[in-house]
Amino acid sequence: MSRVQDKVVLITGAATGIGAAAAVRLADEGATVIVTDVNESGGKAVVEQITAAGGTAEFLAHDVAHEDEWIRVTGHVREVYGRIDVLVNNAGIYLIAPLAETTLEDWNRLMAINVTGTFLGLKHVAPGMAEAGGGAIINLSSIAGLMGTAGHTLYGASKGAVRTMSKDVAAEYAAANVRVNSLHPTYVNTSMAAYGAQTAGVSLDDLGPALSPLGRIAETGDVVNFILFLASDEASYLTGSEYTIDGGGSTLLSLG
Ligand SMILES: NC(=O)c1ccc[n+]([C@@H]2O[C@H](COP(=O)([O-])OP(=O)(O)OC[C@H]3O[C@@H](n4cnc5c(N)ncnc54)[C@H](O)[C@@H]3O)[C@@H](O)[C@H]2O)c1
Repeated sequence: MSRVQDKVVLITGAATGIGAAAAVRLADEGATVIVTDVNESGGKAVVEQITAAGGTAEFLAHDVAHEDEWIRVTGHVREVYGRIDVLVNNAGIYLIAPLAETTLEDWNRLMAINVTGTFLGLKHVAPGMAEAGGGAIINLSSIAGLMGTAGHTLYGASKGAVRTMSKDVAAEYAAANVRVNSLHPTYVNTSMAAYGAQTAGVSLDDLGPALSPLGRIAETGDVVNFILFLASDEASYLTGSEYTIDGGGSTLLSLG
């Protein structure tokens, strides 16, 4: 039996990076995957990849910062597939900038996507899951939602908000068997980490040993393994928790 067989899974920001990898893997494990993103060509390519491999997926254009788009997307999924079993609030953007050079426009844009987008996903999916008997919500926070980093005031604030929102909604919906957890990866090998490395003036390869005693940055598969586990019934006793995926970088000392 596949690990998420017949579950209806909605993944935001799934045209590229972690979301795309999660879509492909969960479809391979038996889920029907709704791929949403503002990047239509990328999202459609992910769906083509899934269906070519024999899986079931649909792409929906979706800007997570807009409530009317959440209403349209969740309404469509419930009408066509009957329910949403798993939501992965993955869409997000990144910004590294010195505090004094950070603008209010930067703040508003980043908060609209990373925080409002996650809030709207929770609001428009959790009640329906509760009515259907339960479900799993996985929110992509970051190590930046747990630790301070220079130049990360906006991004860190947004991911800190995702962390605490996850716990608040987990508390509110636990009795309805809706499980909500947050993931906190260090740099993962996507365009986001490439931007981080470029901004720091180092290569992606150099970032690995600097971030983790394991000597490498995370690959999308390292995060997707956790998304798959939390989405599955194997994680039925896990809610309100935060999971650091950082190769020991925040807990292990490297002395030489
Ligand atoms: N890559 C990392 O190093 C890393 C580390 C920790 C956490 N994360 C988090 O993981 C998530 C995925 O990151 P990634 O590395 O795959 O990034 P990515 O840039 O590869 O993918 C993000 C996706 O979100 C989409 N997106 C952007 N704005 C959107 C909007 N308004 N509505 C819908 N979709 C939108 C983009 O089109 C893109 O496809 C993000 O929330 C990110 O903050 C990433």
